Amino acid sequence: MGYAPQAVIDHAALRHNLQQVRHSAPASRIWSVIKADAYGHGIERVAGALLNTDGFAVARIDEALNLRQGGFDHPIMIMGGCYTQEVLMLAARNDFEVTVHDNQQLSLFDALSPGTHLAVWLKVDTGMHRLGFPLDHIDQIIDRLRAHPYVKQLNLMTHLANADDRGDSATQTQLAHFDSLPLHAFSQCSIANSAGVLGFRESHRDWVRPGIMLYGVSPFVGSSADDEGLQPVMTLRSRVIAVRQCQQGDRIGYGGAYECPEAMPVVVVAAGYGDGYPRHAVEGTPVLVEGRRLPLIGRVSMDMITLDARDYPSVKVGDEVVLWGRGLPVEEVAKKAGTIGYELLCGVTSRVNFIDQNVDEDKEI
Ligand SMILES: Cc1ncc(COP(=O)(O)O)c(C=O)c1O
Repeated sequence: MGYAPQAVIDHAALRHNLQQVRHSAPASRIWSVIKADAYGHGIERVAGALLNTDGFAVARIDEALNLRQGGFDHPIMIMGGCYTQEVLMLAARNDFEVTVHDNQQLSLFDALSPGTHLAVWLKVDTGMHRLGFPLDHIDQIIDRLRAHPYVKQLNLMTHLANADDRGDSATQTQLAHFDSLPLHAFSQCSIANSAGVLGFRESHRDWVRPGIMLYGVSPFVGSSADDEGLQPVMTLRSRVIAVRQCQQGDRIGYGGAYECPEAMPVVVVAAGYGDGYPRHAVEGTPVLVEGRRLPLIGRVSMDMITLDARDYPSVKVGDEVVLWGRGLPVEEVAKKAGTIGYELLCGVTSRVNFIDQNVDEDKEI
């Protein structure tokens, strides 16, 4: 269609990144984390490319149901657990595995209908202080769940708070807390997110739970996807829609935030915050035009951004633009916008057209 942003999703890169998880944690099974519409990539297309995973992990029941209804019969874990009786019953009927992170969730088990059986992941708080039972009363909780007639399998999990910094001792403290628990009481254990998979071998256990690395983004501060052997999955691309010859002193865009220091070509690209390009991207944020890095100038508008084209004076309408992805890591753009790659990927809006690439090797389910 017209010149508008497209998100190209590379299925070969998804498959490659899953292989990287296997390579890094060869003795563990893999919960591929595909919550939040697979970090903005589209839950069904991503699940279809990751059929070799051992299971899918999502945050909420709706995401889990979406997968089952899409025909995926893998194990599915609801990492946020269930908050009402009705939802817990629905989880049991669909054979979902559920986390239990507090007494309110635990109490729902007492009123289940006879014959219900669920695999449960008891979530402990080893230091993140978000979800999870505190360590001090955990023995009673374990006893209660082990004796429960409706719990068919009891597993243990925790979540790492600081593993994105390889040098932070908080991760070792969390692992030590986890290992102080009676692990023999559990069928299976899980700790590692992407940063755990790549940076902390001791965190691997029976199952790992990678998310961001599957999408080809480094989980670490200060290392790139390339350094970690990952390939970007989403390339957000668009086109040049205007080239202006501006004069010295001309002010560009809303608020006149950028003033041309000399006569110069200014490029207008069809992409803005209405598509998910971050409005807070600062002047100088790189954008690729036909493979050349040009700096963002002026404010990001809803449908457009403007670039300084002095380094590419022959730029023309229709030239291809990459906002992030192949050749321009989303981490780099995110940093310039004061955020993280996760947020940019999740924030691509519904008016962007998604295009699948390299789907041939995905197997039919
Ligand atoms: C409980 C849990 N496990 C695993 C993950 C995956 O984390 P990451 O995307 O950093 O690999 C998340 C994501 O936030 C999570 O909430």
